[in-house]
Amino acid sequence: MRAVQVQRFGDPSGMEVVEVPEPEPQEGQLLVHVEAIGVAGVDAVIRRRTIGGGGFAPGFVPGREVAGTVREVGPGVDRAWIGRRVWAFTGDAGGYLELALAAVEDAVVLPDGLGAVEAVTLGSAVPVARFALAHGHLAPGESVLVRGAAGSLGIAAVELAARAGAAAVAVTTSSAERGDRLRELGATHVLDRRGEGDGPAAYDVVVDVVGGPDLPAFLDRLAPNGRHVLVGVVAGMPPADFGTRLLAAFQRSRSFSTFSLDTVPRAALHAARAEALQAAVRGELHAVVQDVLQLEAAAEAHRRMDAGSVFGRIVLVP
Ligand SMILES: NC(=O)c1ccc[n+]([C@@H]2O[C@H](COP(=O)([O-])OP(=O)(O)OC[C@H]3O[C@@H](n4cnc5c(N)ncnc54)[C@H](OP(=O)(O)O)[C@@H]3O)[C@@H](O)[C@H]2O)c1
Repeated sequence: MRAVQVQRFGDPSGMEVVEVPEPEPQEGQLLVHVEAIGVAGVDAVIRRRTIGGGGFAPGFVPGREVAGTVREVGPGVDRAWIGRRVWAFTGDAGGYLELALAAVEDAVVLPDGLGAVEAVTLGSAVPVARFALAHGHLAPGESVLVRGAAGSLGIAAVELAARAGAAAVAVTTSSAERGDRLRELGATHVLDRRGEGDGPAAYDVVVDVVGGPDLPAFLDRLAPNGRHVLVGVVAGMPPADFGTRLLAAFQRSRSFSTFSLDTVPRAALHAARAEALQAAVRGELHAVVQDVLQLEAAAEAHRRMDAGSVFGRIVLVP
């Protein structure tokens, strides 16, 4: 079968399509015949090695979420799964391939009315946004700033915050056109990447996908008791001394936290994934798909992500 491998860390030219043996599902696993693959910002972060490189060695298959039909199951898995259409988190096993392995606990049956392309746009991003807002204890009537709102994670945070009754949902983005699209999805105020623009003076919650050198300036935007939740570092790590900004405003009782899905219990994560797909069927959340490309165009998809030209998500089809 065909798979994409990252042969060299760094720019997307290190990605290649290769022939590899078909995998066999092991204990507790599903083998999924892939119809759609979500291309996520985190795939690029891992490819560039922005945050270390984790346990990845050259030759790994990027991608972490797929949708398709279960073709085979491993020992211990109910054979009734065979033939079901599912969304599945593949984790480090990779998703840019024709046949993917996933633990049965990490698969969600696709609800009627939801396509594979839509599912891989929402299945991971929405839970991150949902739990990040909960981590920030967003309450109805409070104000939110979503920093880096043009990606699938930020778009989900905007839609969820608006539905949760936030009084203001501000976003940072790099263009007026993106700002207009984010307004259609629930944003009430559009700011530039530095946070300049016509928005509230202070925010109760900041959901931050960006991190990077400008992060401390956004800590200054927190209202008293405001909560900054860092969920991504698309602009790299913040300066090492960023915490001094919180200490300088000690009397404002602000807080900073990171949030990772890795800390969510598996059952809660499964429920959030299933709910995300159901919410899409109900029309409460929208799959914003920039483009659907062939598997062979994986490097091109990453080039577009690196160039910042993706609004929402690119999806690959094998
Ligand atoms: N916490 C978790 O559990 C979890 C789970 C999955 C993924 N993640 C993280 O989430 C991130 C990916 O999310 P995503 O796919 O939604 O993001 P993304 O699409 O990669 O980036 C979001 C937006 O940030 C803006 N941006 C990019 N570079 C920037 C810069 N240098 N300065 C300011 N803004 C910049 C861009 O919008 P504009 O051009 O419009 O400004 C971009 O569309 C990764 O860092 C990944 O590690 C976290």
